[in-house]
Amino acid sequence: MRYELLPRCPLGFFPTPFVRLARLTQKLGGPQIFMKRDDQTGLALGGNKVRKLEFLVGEALAQGCDILITGGAAQSNHCRQTAAAAVACGLSCHLVLGGEPPSVPEGNLLLDQLLGATVHWTGEYRKGEKIPEIAELLRADGHKPYVVPYGGSNTTGAAGFVEAVREVVRQLAELRESITHVVFASSSGGTHAGLIVGRHILGLDCELVGISIDKGASGDVPFAEHILRLAHATAQRLGVDAHFSVAEITLREDYLSQGYGVVGDLERRAIRLVAETEGILLDPVYTGRAMGGLIDMIEHGQLSREQSVLFWHTGGIPALFPYARDLLGR
Ligand SMILES: Cc1ncc(COP(=O)(O)O)c(C=O)c1O
Repeated sequence: MRYELLPRCPLGFFPTPFVRLARLTQKLGGPQIFMKRDDQTGLALGGNKVRKLEFLVGEALAQGCDILITGGAAQSNHCRQTAAAAVACGLSCHLVLGGEPPSVPEGNLLLDQLLGATVHWTGEYRKGEKIPEIAELLRADGHKPYVVPYGGSNTTGAAGFVEAVREVVRQLAELRESITHVVFASSSGGTHAGLIVGRHILGLDCELVGISIDKGASGDVPFAEHILRLAHATAQRLGVDAHFSVAEITLREDYLSQGYGVVGDLERRAIRLVAETEGILLDPVYTGRAMGGLIDMIEHGQLSREQSVLFWHTGGIPALFPYARDLLGR
């Protein structure tokens, strides 16, 4: 199916590896498990947002912008990757972060500072609510800021995951493998929406299972509805005629436990298990929870031996360090 190609700025190492997790598969005794290593996208410790940023920065450069501005939580992976993308393209970066400045910056925040980003602290607002205000101040100062939305999740960013599906389809053909499910962490919805559109365009026949990470992910609109709208808008943007229904969206909201960024037994166990069986590190906020969900589904017989699952490792590794106490259960 033909679709419109948006301006793209190369930032990462693609394709990312597609690997078989033989030991984890054996340990769990369930479906064949593969992993898409987007923790290896390369830019400043990698992650899924590099895929979105290739298109977002492509648009920023096409519009002649001089600053990238975005927002998120203090340990936002998206913000760290945006800061690195700005440096790589000769732009400045302003980050609008929730919380208060800590006495010693750790994890992603340390990297934001090393990457030269200007940080604006906004207390209780951790979803970039103050971006328009700060963008206005920058404009008044003679700059042309490009607003990267929360999580990079608009139609431009989601286009990155359409291309990701193309990558997977090619890798499956090369390996002569097939998958029945893709399991991934879903938070601001762009990854999920892009995968839905990519699956449609490229004819990938599998169920997409988003593990919801954040309770109030999309404000007043139910999260599945938000993803659906973004998927439609992305298809339209790419010139593709598509109609998706909310029934096609598998969103597991039963692993949210104590809420966003709170590590519990589910995440601790998943992170340990994957580290000890495969030597692969997951992160405490996103992939630890998503893998915890996958393990739980397998243990409850919701996925069988005959099926094969692609777990999408979306990155987040720098957040392991500030979460040391929670990960050790102290
Ligand atoms: C490591 C990691 N995984 C998954 C996600 C979720 O992706 P999305 O916001 O596109 O739903 C994020 C978003 O911040 C992330 O940092």
